[in-house]
Amino acid sequence: MALIEISDLHPGVRQLLFNRPEKLNALSSPLMAEFDAALDAAEADDDVRVLILRGSGGKAFVAGADIAEYQGDKRAEFIAYQMNSRRVFDKLERLPKPVICVIDGFALGGGFEIALCCDILLVSPDAQLGLPEGRLGLSPGGGGTQRLVRAIGKYAASDLMLAGWRMSGQRAYELGLAAEVSDDLEGAALKRARACLKTAPLAQAEMKRLMREGVDAPIETAKSYEQEVLFRLYSTADGQEGIDAFLEKREPQFRGA
Ligand code: COA
Repeated sequence: MALIEISDLHPGVRQLLFNRPEKLNALSSPLMAEFDAALDAAEADDDVRVLILRGSGGKAFVAGADIAEYQGDKRAEFIAYQMNSRRVFDKLERLPKPVICVIDGFALGGGFEIALCCDILLVSPDAQLGLPEGRLGLSPGGGGTQRLVRAIGKYAASDLMLAGWRMSGQRAYELGLAAEVSDDLEGAALKRARACLKTAPLAQAEMKRLMREGVDAPIETAKSYEQEVLFRLYSTADGQEGIDAFLEKREPQFRGA
């Protein structure tokens, strides 16, 4: 049975389902290897325009790294696992296509770190998100401390990490992390994915990069970079098509060029 179940839900929309429900979809090394390969395949396939990440079983998105692999002071393996997670999570963050993360139940540790690498988060009201590594005597290793503090600020992040608190889906929405709280996550995900299909792919890729790289750059540098991107997009076929379509009152046909 695949640990990452791949399905194309709608033309242009691919879902990757974390499929280890008996362990709340914990990120074992074999599961990480499948996730890594599935990300490569999604990136390489021009027919995939939007990615949806989801957990199977209804109880968890992903409950974190597989703690069973940590036991026994296997330092070399532990370091290799962490380096690999960092690489795969960075790959996810850099994917030049919109990634929607659907969180039904627990998104803890590495599961929350994965969510923090996605673009649009959809949550159930009673979802539980957190970075509880401190309760294991450890700390996050897949970028969680850094992405979380940039996303919600030091104080809300400290509540999760230092107090080991889990936040509800509702709270994630109030903090601006989640785009929507819904009892119908499947419907909400498809609605968002269809909306993403209407935005030009090159523009999406560039805007993702601008947000990611601009946030740590001096603002004047980032604004110059933003204009360079816009001037480049203006002269693309899709840029001209979007403008023409608006003025001709028709739907644009974007080709990713
Ligand atoms: N790694 C390995 N196994 C995990 C796991 C993880 N991160 N999270 C859950 N599991 C396993 C449990 O060991 C259990 O397996 P078992 O049935 O063989 O005993 C199964 O998944 C179900 O989890 P369980 O703890 O029984 O469910 P629960 O509803 O009582 O509690 C959680 C749910 C999420 C609160 C609890 O599983 C938990 O705290 N998980 C670890 C979260 C964490 O610290 N993540 C960061 C890791 S660095």
